[in-house]
Amino acid sequence: MGESARQLNRGFHVEIRRGAQKVAEEVAGRIIAALRVRPALTLGLPTGSTAMPVHAALVAAHREGRVSFARCDVFAVDEYLGLEASDARSYARFLRDHLVSHIDLPAAQFHVPDGLASDPSEEADRFAQSLAQRGGFDLLFLGLGANGHLAFNEPGSPRDARTRYVQLDESTLAANSRFFRNSNEQPTEAITIGLAEIMEARQVIVAATGESKARAVAAIRNSQPVSVCPAGILNGHPNACLIIDEAAGGS
Ligand code: GLP
Repeated sequence: MGESARQLNRGFHVEIRRGAQKVAEEVAGRIIAALRVRPALTLGLPTGSTAMPVHAALVAAHREGRVSFARCDVFAVDEYLGLEASDARSYARFLRDHLVSHIDLPAAQFHVPDGLASDPSEEADRFAQSLAQRGGFDLLFLGLGANGHLAFNEPGSPRDARTRYVQLDESTLAANSRFFRNSNEQPTEAITIGLAEIMEARQVIVAATGESKARAVAAIRNSQPVSVCPAGILNGHPNACLIIDEAAGGS
């Protein structure tokens, strides 16, 4: 099949697929399989260009009657501070437009931190509590930042950090500036799930596509310190998979 897989350290399994679309199909297939086994899944989902074709594949599968989200809970993994949920650049809106509006997920089972909360720390705690009430993540799908971030856990994030209010790195602001017309409209702070909640997830899937992710993928494979490459923390996870295309794999 020309596809390869290898085991890294304890738990981070790397799989290579031919191109971003195949990566997305693989991720969506695993999410659908998990929902079939456990319809009341607690599912964590990212936004971003890597996630977009995954969401599209989930919507297509739902339309074809191959998957239902009626009993699961979906948690966004991060949200900008300072944007309304209806703002086209908010992650709440992204998930709504690309996934939630097109599937059978009840509104009360869709959870996103409130980007306009007057007390972001309190809002982060509220979000963490509602995740904990549902037993944490059964399946957590994440994208990969070009600087190795997971959700908005930037380099230097503590391993024991839980959902919290964070400042974004200059490199992340630069990478995401494409979504904003000018820099004074771009939020510099966010609420993100923490590395602790990521490590507590029963299953983690990280997807990365394109050349811009090759350095972060190499840092994971070379076991760079977590303080430099947060995603490397998953080398110590018992059930984590990194699904990449050839470009992200450096070939
Ligand atoms: C963003 C988000 C992450 C996302 C990542 C990759 O900054 N905070 O949750 O997974 O970066 O995004 P993309 O797939 O667009 O490269």
